[in-house]
Amino acid sequence: MACVMDGNGRWAARRSLPRTAGHEAAEAAVIDTIEAARSAGIQWLSLYAFSTENWQRPAGEVDVLMRLVRRTIRKHAPALHARGVRCRFLGMADPRIPPPLAQDITDLTTLTSDNRRMTLTIAFDHGGRRDIVEAARSLIRAAVPAEQVTEATFARHLPYSDTPDVDLVIRTSGEQRISNFMLWQVAYAEWVFPRVLWPDFRATHLWECLDAYRRRQRRFGDVRRPAATTGEGVR
Ligand code: IPE
Ligand code: IPE
Ligand code: MG
Repeated sequence: MACVMDGNGRWAARRSLPRTAGHEAAEAAVIDTIEAARSAGIQWLSLYAFSTENWQRPAGEVDVLMRLVRRTIRKHAPALHARGVRCRFLGMADPRIPPPLAQDITDLTTLTSDNRRMTLTIAFDHGGRRDIVEAARSLIRAAVPAEQVTEATFARHLPYSDTPDVDLVIRTSGEQRISNFMLWQVAYAEWVFPRVLWPDFRATHLWECLDAYRRRQRRFGDVRRPAATTGEGVR
């Protein structure tokens, strides 16, 4: 399962607050979502926190986002570890990421690397197209002959290639687009677009999204009546 956490700026604007207040308020939604997903038995959760395109935002907003990510990691690392959450970060290629934040990210990844209850992938400085280009480069570096490049071999060269295809993507705030998110892995995902703005997203919204997912009929291009989806197996 994955979340495109959108609507922080609008949440703040509705309260006549600066956009950064919306990012600050997002922390509670992140923590609630991780816990709700974990207790629902979801083993793979990806959260889109910062895109390769988000570097275009005003420097002050980018700075605040970097500081907030660092604060959230430092504050919640022990609890995430205690709850068996394996944390890792997808992206992280840009030298503009402040070194102390990069260090905290490495520390959290190392601390939690043996946990197995849930894998939490934070897409941070992430771009789906960049990942695909990286996979192509990796294949070329490994001198894989063209005729051996299948979808399966290609997927093995993506970053964090053990991440399963995403079954369900939730994008909050009513926006309905992919915004360069895990393009390879969402090829056959079901999407739900709750109107709630991300800082207001809570466990109850997650249950509603899982209900919507259970009502979908996934066909994968076939015409036979497919097996009903179940929330339990959602990845
Ligand atoms: C999502 O909220 C957070 C990030 C992209 C980092 P936005 O900041 O995109 O909020 P809106 O879309 O302007 O409301
Ligand atoms: C996508 O949201 C990135 C994250 C949620 C981190 P944006 O708000 O940046 O996407 P666009 O610009 O509306 O497509
Ligand atoms: Mg947005």
